[in-house]
Amino acid sequence: MQRLPPTGLRPPISPAMNTFLSLLRSRRSIRRYRPEPVSQTLVQQILEAANWAPSAHNRQPWRFAVLRGQQPKDRLATAMGRRLRADLEADGVPDSVIEKDVHRSYQRITGAPIVIVICLSMEDMDTYPDERRRRNEWIMATQSTAMAGQNLLLAAHSLGLGACWMCAPLFVPELVRENLGLPGEWEPQGLVTLGYPAETKIKTRHPLSEKVLFVD
Ligand SMILES: Cc1cc2nc3c(=O)[nH]c(=O)nc-3n(C[C@H](O)[C@H](O)[C@H](O)COP(=O)(O)O)c2cc1C
Repeated sequence: MQRLPPTGLRPPISPAMNTFLSLLRSRRSIRRYRPEPVSQTLVQQILEAANWAPSAHNRQPWRFAVLRGQQPKDRLATAMGRRLRADLEADGVPDSVIEKDVHRSYQRITGAPIVIVICLSMEDMDTYPDERRRRNEWIMATQSTAMAGQNLLLAAHSLGLGACWMCAPLFVPELVRENLGLPGEWEPQGLVTLGYPAETKIKTRHPLSEKVLFVD
């Protein structure tokens, strides 16, 4: 087993690649947005980028519900907030903390010019008679959908937009499906808020050397 070589020993990269790598590094989760609308052209470009993600058997299991109007965002945020409140109450979390959490979640969703609910569908994936392979097939669909999500976040960043993945729909998939009138086979995985950034963020990462082993 061998750890990463020092940076200077890594192979040289082309200028175009370097731009792409800078883009990867400079993307941040942005949670506050300016009120300007995001054009349909940009939304379309971002969704196209998501649609070019790799997927298991190239089955493209991702599905996207794009919330543009204030009404569906408000309706979804309110319904998810109600469930978040109930979950936190059951956990015994103090009221003041619950109010803050619910309010923050509501603000983030309704304050975003665009919300994209990311779902997966198993309809085109393989089927198996046994639970073990069914589960693995489902995991492959979630992995593929997450890759589409990453494409989406990077495309948004490259077009000057900010975005943030929020996990809330994963906890209340039926609620999200019913609230938005989504097809029955769509399984909500998360949502991405999108808009022109009203904040800047700095993040760090653990050293790569803690995450990588070379096995020769
Ligand atoms: C699967 C997943 C779920 C996330 N859920 C939330 C969330 O519910 N709320 C939130 O504010 N950020 C959420 N994030 C964003 C992470 O907090 C963020 O990616 C992380 O802090 C690293 O920051 P960066 O994206 O700016 O590099 C989520 C990210 C991922 C990948």
